[in-house]
Amino acid sequence: MLVTLIRRYSKPYFPYVAAVVVFQLASTIAALYLPSLNARIIDEGVSRGDTDYIWRTGGLMLGVALIQVATAIAGVYFGSKAAMAFGRDLRRGVFRKVSSFSARDVNVFGAPTLITRGTNDVQQVQMLMLMGLNFMVATPIMCIGGIFMALREDLNLSWLVWVSVPVLVAVVGYLVVRLMPLFRSMQVKIDRLNGVLREQIIGIRVVRAFVREPHEAERFGAANKELTDVSLKIGALFVLMFPAIGMILHVATAAVLWFGGQRVDAGDMQVGALTAFLQYLLQILMAVMMGTFMAMMIPRASVCADRIGEVLDVEPSIREPLTPVAPAQKAGRVEFRNVSFAYPGAEVPVLSDISFTAEPGQTVAIIGSTGAGKTSLLALLPRLYDTASGEVLLDGVPVSNLERGDITQRVAMVPQRPYLFSGTVEHNLRFGKPEAMDEELWEALTVAQAADFVREMNGGLASRIAQGGTNVSGGQRQRLCIARALVTEPKVFLFDDSFSALDVATDARLRRALKAKTADATVIIVGQRVSTIADADQILVLDKGRIVDRGTHEELLERSGTYQEIVESQLTAEAVA
Ligand code: CTP
Ligand code: MG
Repeated sequence: MLVTLIRRYSKPYFPYVAAVVVFQLASTIAALYLPSLNARIIDEGVSRGDTDYIWRTGGLMLGVALIQVATAIAGVYFGSKAAMAFGRDLRRGVFRKVSSFSARDVNVFGAPTLITRGTNDVQQVQMLMLMGLNFMVATPIMCIGGIFMALREDLNLSWLVWVSVPVLVAVVGYLVVRLMPLFRSMQVKIDRLNGVLREQIIGIRVVRAFVREPHEAERFGAANKELTDVSLKIGALFVLMFPAIGMILHVATAAVLWFGGQRVDAGDMQVGALTAFLQYLLQILMAVMMGTFMAMMIPRASVCADRIGEVLDVEPSIREPLTPVAPAQKAGRVEFRNVSFAYPGAEVPVLSDISFTAEPGQTVAIIGSTGAGKTSLLALLPRLYDTASGEVLLDGVPVSNLERGDITQRVAMVPQRPYLFSGTVEHNLRFGKPEAMDEELWEALTVAQAADFVREMNGGLASRIAQGGTNVSGGQRQRLCIARALVTEPKVFLFDDSFSALDVATDARLRRALKAKTADATVIIVGQRVSTIADADQILVLDKGRIVDRGTHEELLERSGTYQEIVESQLTAEAVA
């Protein structure tokens, strides 16, 4: 997966990658040249007192050093550019994919892990890419070139290279193998922590109201502790790693000086060659260390890449039709034909055998007890879910054969849980129709009985709305959502219990204004109050996912037992109140 991701998402940045390769090649060769020049200065210049030679070679050394620095900087610059762009594209890929998910697909993963995958996991892969680009070329060349140059300085000391490199690889490699499973479990713990935190922040009022802070703090504490424990285990291994590496480097240095010193004493080796050999050995060991670090990042990044891949590989369960049908007319006629529906994974159907028709200009109301399936029924029209059997038709065409845009353009839904986005009032109202004029917004607000309170808010249309719309009351939020639906001027209105938070007088005024505005549209209202739905052209009484009776208010009053019960219960409730 890691390879696939990198290949797919780094393609546009090949020119940068090519630049990185060229610059690093130059910088590494320059770095390998420097100790050798240094040795020449000591052995040929200093030892013979040849000032001229020292100046010449010193100047060359300075030049090479400058080239080395400049190319190294350029290499890192292009490497960072490529890696960051890669990360950005990958994040965008995850975001686009998640945006195409249906409600069901989101549930398969859960929101917290989708968030972690789109942020933290992408960052891990991006980090590998950055490290990879910065060391990919330099490390092997430094390693092989270093060995070659070291042997050129002195063949007899070569066994020091053959001993120290495997020891370093063995030690670092062992730690890396121990680290891999820990990194894997770390991503899971981050997910869990995100999940708990998210739930608690969203539910903060409930937590307060039930004085559950201690319990919730405990839950968070547990998740936090798990993450800490894993991080500590990782830390413990890292703590071992640096001293171990340091020790190997220092022992190698001491060995070079010890054995090399003996050879210098015996006159078999010059001092400059010895310093150069030492520098090459250190360069080799550094390169090996960097290579192993890289190797260490690969398992973690590949865990993350797999998790990202799982998201990217999802085929959205609700797909756009391959050959979309363009409806002959766009009047907004809604028809349910023998529709049954069950939530994914559930055995019992939530809706069975639902059939009804709503003509343009008509109002169809749905009433039924909590959990009867009213919200589920509405969700089928904008295709938030697909039916199990039967068909939902919009203007005579099954919604599964319509393009999404074609549906949303004609159907506007006011959800049961009204949701507003952070931003301003007008930003929310223009959600479905960005080009709407201010007058249109005010007209929608007037119909929705929201104009007064928006006018009273400090900024009018430009007033701030907090995330989720939490800075306006439930009833205000409902009315803003109604206005938002009105602005799009759809052919079909779906109101899911959208008047529940309004007082009876406002409810009545709103519906009167709405009636004029929606005269040609198809209106489907889910309502709890009999007064809200009494004047509908057709009322469907829903019970346990079945339509048990249908008719006008008067007809139902006469013959439907369930309906009479509902009416009576509300009358008594009002009498009690
Ligand atoms: N349900 C489910 N999964 C969901 C939503 C609902 O399994 N994501 C099931 C519940 O068991 C519920 C049934 O579907 O009993 C009907 O839910 P819904 O359509 O939301 O009922 P409503 O009639 O809208 O209930 P309310 O009046 O409370 O809004
Ligand atoms: Mg509902």
